Amino acid sequence: MGKTTTAINLATAMAASGESILLVDLDPQGNASTGLGIQRNERKTGSYALLTQNVPASPIRTYVPGLSLIPAEPDLAGAEIELVTIPRREFRLRDALRSLNTDGQAYTYVLIDCPPGLGLLTLNALVAADSVLVPLQCEFFALEGITQLIRIIDMVKRDLNPSLRLEGILLTMFDRRNNLSELVAADARGFFGQEVYETVIPRNIRISEAPSHGKPVLLYDFRSPGAQAYVRLAGEVLERGRRAAGTAP
Ligand SMILES: Nc1ncnc2c1ncn2[C@@H]1O[C@H](COP(=O)(O)OP(=O)(O)OP(=O)(O)O)[C@@H](O)[C@H]1O
Ligand SMILES: [Mg+2]
Repeated sequence: MGKTTTAINLATAMAASGESILLVDLDPQGNASTGLGIQRNERKTGSYALLTQNVPASPIRTYVPGLSLIPAEPDLAGAEIELVTIPRREFRLRDALRSLNTDGQAYTYVLIDCPPGLGLLTLNALVAADSVLVPLQCEFFALEGITQLIRIIDMVKRDLNPSLRLEGILLTMFDRRNNLSELVAADARGFFGQEVYETVIPRNIRISEAPSHGKPVLLYDFRSPGAQAYVRLAGEVLERGRRAAGTAP
């Protein structure tokens, strides 16, 4: 839980720091598209076309400066089945992103919002990606799920995408009044150490209200604790990126 919320708000906060961001909505529910105010009739050549047809998708510019989106069309719901018979079915997204019609735009980061569950859509994301950011909900004992996910990342790395790595683990929906939150957070840090971001996303009502206004929380209520947490997270993610690229000051 927290994937789409993080995709939208991290993308927005990174764009606000001057990066040029492409967000790919790979979930048939289309929550990332809705959350950015893109109506259903505006979702034309999106991730479904990208995966199943040989048409270059043209990202749409969102009203967030520096943030473009490949939306999820309603047809994406059938892609999981259609992909089964398509050649190079695990590589469709990777191949398509390489030949993206970027309209002269060079993206510094591409973020992919995954659907729930592990099917061919998620697999396409893992094959196309350099790294995986894993949100960890601090509300129930979710560590078991995460160790399973890390096994899957290792499998994909071994068989399909040798350069895949864990970008980081993000503690989210943290509630100070809930003892379990502290417990899950401490456990995660004990187990995954430096992989866990210092920034913790609090459980914050403004975060959950924002999508129904078609806005990232940064635009809906910039001063809210949720928005501020995503700003700090973007700083951490970009800093890690610079360090990995060896360009940190
Ligand atoms: N930090 C938060 N504080 C309060 N509500 C949150 C927070 N993060 C997410 N939510 C809410 O929790 C719900 C699930 O979050 P989200 O849609 O980001 O999860 P998801 O992992 O994308 O789910 P799915 O697997 O269904 O795509 C949403 O209604 C969202 O608004
Ligand atoms: Mg989602």
